[in-house]
Amino acid sequence: MAMIINGKEIAANVKREVAAEVEQLKAQGFEPGLAVVLVGDNPASRVYVNNKKKDCAEVGFASYEYTLPAETTEAQLLDLVAKLNADPKVNGILVQLPLPKHICEQTILHAISPSKDVDAFHPENVGRIMIGDYSFLPCTPAGVIEMLDSIGTEIAGKHCVVIGRSNIVGKPMAMLLLHRNGTVTICHSRTQNLAQQTKQADILIAAVGKADFVTADMVKPGAVVIDVGMNRNAEGKLVGDVAYDEVEKIASAITPVPGGVGPMTRAILMRNTLTAAKQQLLK
Ligand code: GUN
Repeated sequence: MAMIINGKEIAANVKREVAAEVEQLKAQGFEPGLAVVLVGDNPASRVYVNNKKKDCAEVGFASYEYTLPAETTEAQLLDLVAKLNADPKVNGILVQLPLPKHICEQTILHAISPSKDVDAFHPENVGRIMIGDYSFLPCTPAGVIEMLDSIGTEIAGKHCVVIGRSNIVGKPMAMLLLHRNGTVTICHSRTQNLAQQTKQADILIAAVGKADFVTADMVKPGAVVIDVGMNRNAEGKLVGDVAYDEVEKIASAITPVPGGVGPMTRAILMRNTLTAAKQQLLK
């Protein structure tokens, strides 16, 4: 029976720390603010944006929501980003992905000022993550590291296997584990003998986007298993990438879905917004 890693509880601790600092900033007359931009009516995105607004209220940030119609042009969205870049009340900017197909995500993400890029998606911030000199941590990978730390898992020297190579999770995840001296393998859809690779993992991180993808026969007994997946199964239930019921029997620790990595991603976004606000205040 694995220890269940309670993401909600660990995230609540992170948010408490952020809230305490926000209180101090407010006492000095400064209220940090996060702008969240949603284009179109993707229902999952709507839920994510609502959650971010709730988190802002909880830690004491002002939140500024911009909901734009799906027909918004790239030029109109660029105009809004430029306005937010120049607005001193806005310390962090988050443009919710995915964007409608006629808008180039890369163009938009590149237009966000790196100093307000609390997602850490701008190439300048991505490059800084690569060389280990960063102020904004990529939210989901940083949340995973925070979880590993909070249960006392040593990363240095461990074999860490990341399944998935996305720019948002897989690649930055591998980089953060490497910075902590893990030995890192990145697996993806073209990896041969995947189970042979994943069975080597002391720390296994699944970021695939397929329900029940990681089965017990792919996991080394005693491994720490982190499930980044958020999928709907055939019954419409929210599930991760890991076949939880069977893997939980052999892992030493495992994250649930929901209540695992998701709340951590949100908490790190709050921490990044605080970091942005403090840096802008010092300027
Ligand atoms: N859509 C899904 N996850 C994310 C995220 O972490 N940031 C943004 N901006 N959009 C997302």
